[in-house]
Amino acid sequence: MAIIHSMYREPGKVAIDEKTCKQCGLCARICPADVLKMDDGRLQVSEKSLFGCIACGHCMMVCPKDAITVTGRGVSPQDLLPLPDQDERAGADALAALMKARRSIRHFHDRPVDPRLVERVVETAMTAPMGIPPWDVGCVRVIGREEVRRISDEIIKGYVGFLKVFKPWLLKVMRPFVGRAKYEMFADFVRPLAQIYVGAHQEGRDKLFHDAPVLLIFYHSPYAESLDAGIACTYAMLAAESLGLGSTIIGGAPPILQRNKALCRRLGIPDANTPSVTLILGHPKVTFRKAIRRRFSHVSSTGAQQ
Ligand SMILES: Cc1cc2nc3c(=O)[nH]c(=O)nc-3n(C[C@H](O)[C@H](O)[C@H](O)COP(=O)(O)O)c2cc1C
Repeated sequence: MAIIHSMYREPGKVAIDEKTCKQCGLCARICPADVLKMDDGRLQVSEKSLFGCIACGHCMMVCPKDAITVTGRGVSPQDLLPLPDQDERAGADALAALMKARRSIRHFHDRPVDPRLVERVVETAMTAPMGIPPWDVGCVRVIGREEVRRISDEIIKGYVGFLKVFKPWLLKVMRPFVGRAKYEMFADFVRPLAQIYVGAHQEGRDKLFHDAPVLLIFYHSPYAESLDAGIACTYAMLAAESLGLGSTIIGGAPPILQRNKALCRRLGIPDANTPSVTLILGHPKVTFRKAIRRRFSHVSSTGAQQ
């Protein structure tokens, strides 16, 4: 049995090079799918693993002798990369500084973003963790203000339709079925926001994507979760920050985009995939002078307190 993916229905294939394997068992200790096992001091590929090899590649990455190869599910030994040197990696202070200094940017310089920077952002986002390997998330790079604006125009048309259907009286009728929080969100936030988007559009302003020069659309297959796309997008946002680009996650676009199948097809989003999160990017026109302390609504602890 294998964990089904939109592109792969077979487990990965694990091979042990008996000549170089030192039987240290490091790979067996960390294999999350219990595919590699030590049996009487010898490394074995177990047939008993429920899902088989998920092709995370951890065994290849931990082996000090390059004795393990994993192929299939989009992975092969050619994907192995040298580990970045310790002094090349961001330490806790550098990472916290990058995160504290990041702000959502909705004002961009006119100058276009070099597509190589966009590529770097997307490549870095691909280092993010995913629910189950390999990634079942895709990304559309929309480059250029005009193209971003065309997509914005299409989404605003969807909001015009939304406003026609979801009149305040209909939302009130729906309230007992959707509950108070959902009702309040729709009546007091989504509907007024849709009016703002549409009103601004009538005046020639883009309040959805803020005239950004680049838009990234992250989508996921029916076999993956929207959380995967959200994590990928978050990594992209941090990568953008590290490259001096400003960005904002735009949650206002996906609910409408998901319902516009023709637009999804034009953007190359495979049928049955769901665009779940979007990120606008550009050279920031705003300089913040301060950072800010943010708090979760609640933080609690359980277990031993130091
Ligand atoms: C899931 C998600 C959806 C968001 N959607 C929008 C959006 O549609 N429009 C927008 O202007 N900002 C959007 N934002 C950005 C937030 O408004 C922003 O993060 C928040 O105001 C805090 O500002 P900061 O990122 O500078 O700390 C979104 C952020 C997240 C995480």
